[in-house]
Amino acid sequence: MLAFFDSGFGGLTVYKEVEKLMPEYDYMYLGDGARAPYGNHTPEIIKKYTEEAIEHLFDKGARLIIIACNTASALALRHLQQKYIRDTKATDRNILGVIFPVVEKAVEVSKTGRIGVVGTKGTIESQTYDRELTKLHSDAKIFSKACPLLVPFIEEGWHTKPEARMILKKYLLPLKSKNIDTLVLGCTHYPFMLRDFQRMMGKRTQVLHAGKIVAESLKDYLKKHPELEKLLSKKGKRKFLTTDSTEKFQDFAKKFLKMDVKAEKVEI
Ligand code: DGL
Repeated sequence: MLAFFDSGFGGLTVYKEVEKLMPEYDYMYLGDGARAPYGNHTPEIIKKYTEEAIEHLFDKGARLIIIACNTASALALRHLQQKYIRDTKATDRNILGVIFPVVEKAVEVSKTGRIGVVGTKGTIESQTYDRELTKLHSDAKIFSKACPLLVPFIEEGWHTKPEARMILKKYLLPLKSKNIDTLVLGCTHYPFMLRDFQRMMGKRTQVLHAGKIVAESLKDYLKKHPELEKLLSKKGKRKFLTTDSTEKFQDFAKKFLKMDVKAEKVEI
């Protein structure tokens, strides 16, 4: 089964695009809402929580896990790929993150190489985007900014309020003066404020986020890895797991995915 992991329900922004592009697969989504947000935790805690989630998903039959959470992708992906894939020489499963596909796209579309990145404290402090971007484009100039107050606003459904826009404006101010032509939204939640980001950055800056980019890159990955692709079940099943209240998850997921969602509470 194809599985998604996120610290909560923000990863549904990625899941939604993947499911839309490839509805034939069975999907399982795990949100660790009880321990979210991950963005302000230490790297050690993020690694530990993500590892527990990954083990849970493998135990439940996942073959390919997409870590939809940027913070977990930034801080735990390499460690988990080493532990569960390279060290065990596993060929019948894999773990992918959301950072690399977006980095590839940013390098492809940026004309000036002046690229901005916004994300949680954990993601920005890890400098994972900076490292990956400069690996692909050694002359790139990266300007990053942690925006820790946005996730709580979005989780509360307050992101359309003027207070949220005011905070966003303050966060973007230092990036606006840097003449960037591409801005990467390095957080699952920020696409909920996509229009505000785009409006505040202006027409000369392209704003990228993981959803469609990850969906396209996953499709391509599956084409290139038929041995793993054929192990993924295709009965159109959907399974939603949460470590937090099922009602909270269902309410959000139903509205966002525009479908009936039955969530199951799990302990990981
Ligand atoms: N999912 C996280 C990310 O993309 C945002 C929410 C959190 O901090 O848990 O970085």
